[in-house]
Amino acid sequence: MATTPQYVTQTEDGEESSLQELAKRHLWMHFTRMSAYERCEVPILVRGEGCYVYDENGKRYLDGLSALFCVNAGHGRAEIADAMAEQAKQLAFFTNWSYAHPRAIELAARVAGLAPGDLNRVFFTSGGGEAVESALKLCRTFHKHNGEAGRYKLIAREIAYHGTTMGALSATGIPALRAPFEPLPAGGHHVPNTNSYRWPEGRDPLWAAEAIEAKILFEGPETVSCVILEPVQNAGGCLTPQEGYWQRVREICDKYGVLLISDEVICSWGRLGHPFGAQRYGYEPDIITTAKGLTSAYSPMGAVIVSDRVAEPFMEGANMFVHGFTFGGHPVSAAAAMANLDIFDREDLCRHVRDKEGELRSMLEGLRDIPIVGDVRGAGFFHAIELVKDQDTKESFGDGESETLLRGYLSGALYENGLICRADDRGDPVIQLSPPLISDTEQFAEIEGVLRKVLTEASKRS
Ligand SMILES: Cc1ncc(COP(=O)(O)O)c(C=O)c1O
Repeated sequence: MATTPQYVTQTEDGEESSLQELAKRHLWMHFTRMSAYERCEVPILVRGEGCYVYDENGKRYLDGLSALFCVNAGHGRAEIADAMAEQAKQLAFFTNWSYAHPRAIELAARVAGLAPGDLNRVFFTSGGGEAVESALKLCRTFHKHNGEAGRYKLIAREIAYHGTTMGALSATGIPALRAPFEPLPAGGHHVPNTNSYRWPEGRDPLWAAEAIEAKILFEGPETVSCVILEPVQNAGGCLTPQEGYWQRVREICDKYGVLLISDEVICSWGRLGHPFGAQRYGYEPDIITTAKGLTSAYSPMGAVIVSDRVAEPFMEGANMFVHGFTFGGHPVSAAAAMANLDIFDREDLCRHVRDKEGELRSMLEGLRDIPIVGDVRGAGFFHAIELVKDQDTKESFGDGESETLLRGYLSGALYENGLICRADDRGDPVIQLSPPLISDTEQFAEIEGVLRKVLTEASKRS
């Protein structure tokens, strides 16, 4: 990518340096091989509008990932920015440690009103990892209050991503993310996920749900605190549940007194066509963790939404949840969330997703004539294409091949062709799409054009 930086800044020693040079010298990007930027430019995005973002050279990209499943209402919404500015002028910050402020109160009530069942109590955090961390601690201490101090284990799924803080990491089921930090806090156990693409014919559709019961029995029900699952699992490529999966998991959790956490950091706020993913699949968890789309990421915020039953022991006498973060419920983030949810209401974004997801899906299904396209799966505006060596045998790429294909070609080629999406090999290699919820036929056609061109070339190279 040729670059003529428009943005030139002054370094401390007075020399002029481009943002590229400063980024390469000083910015430590997350989950990023920094050495790659010895050979190429850092992608520097400076502006966003609707479904599109623009880099430092003015080149336009279709944000097919909503900036990592975040900007659900789309970029450049002035009314969210205005609400944040207004709040910053009125009360830029006060903490939720023993104090409240209007926006956090209003938002908690609004979120509780949208949440399924009796999930009525909202504990704000600064993001998704903090929400998961908080939920895991909440479950352990809930059981202690109920005289079941032995319940400390969690059950999560293989290849699932639940965050990187040490507690959340114990739920994350991706060995490569866990190994560098081991030993992790004790008690993280993993069961198979719902990826049925390579399941043998005739397998019980509820096999993955039954595996949760088997794991609880193996570990000993009196030691198990919670089960944490995403409505549609992100890592591994938009793994949807089998019909009846969630109902069976709910039954199992109830049978053994285990709390059910629906980790909706991605799957809430319209991503699956409903405020919460649990509503799409018709189940009531004990706890929902959320973040990202809550504010459409105009300001960082997460939340743990808790049922009356789970909150109750913490509301009595001298009891409290001995846990918190300075910035949980930040007024400016709460104001952003309120303005974001106003947009959801006014534009009926959940309905738009439900109306248009079939069209998005058909477009992706239409790519199956490209030999490298193995599976197309997902729900709402959250879909993945699994890449294979052979469509008939479903043979996948080996680690080295995957590296060459994804990092060596696909990621760069998609970006160069103006599409931001995710080429991910945390499970089998997949391309993931999760466009802003305002995207429509025009954007689907644009996505189709880039994917067809790049995947056809990838097929020839593989
Ligand atoms: C399901 C899920 N849980 C937790 C997290 C962690 O969220 P954060 O990156 O905001 O800490 C993520 C992040 O993508 C996620 O997808």
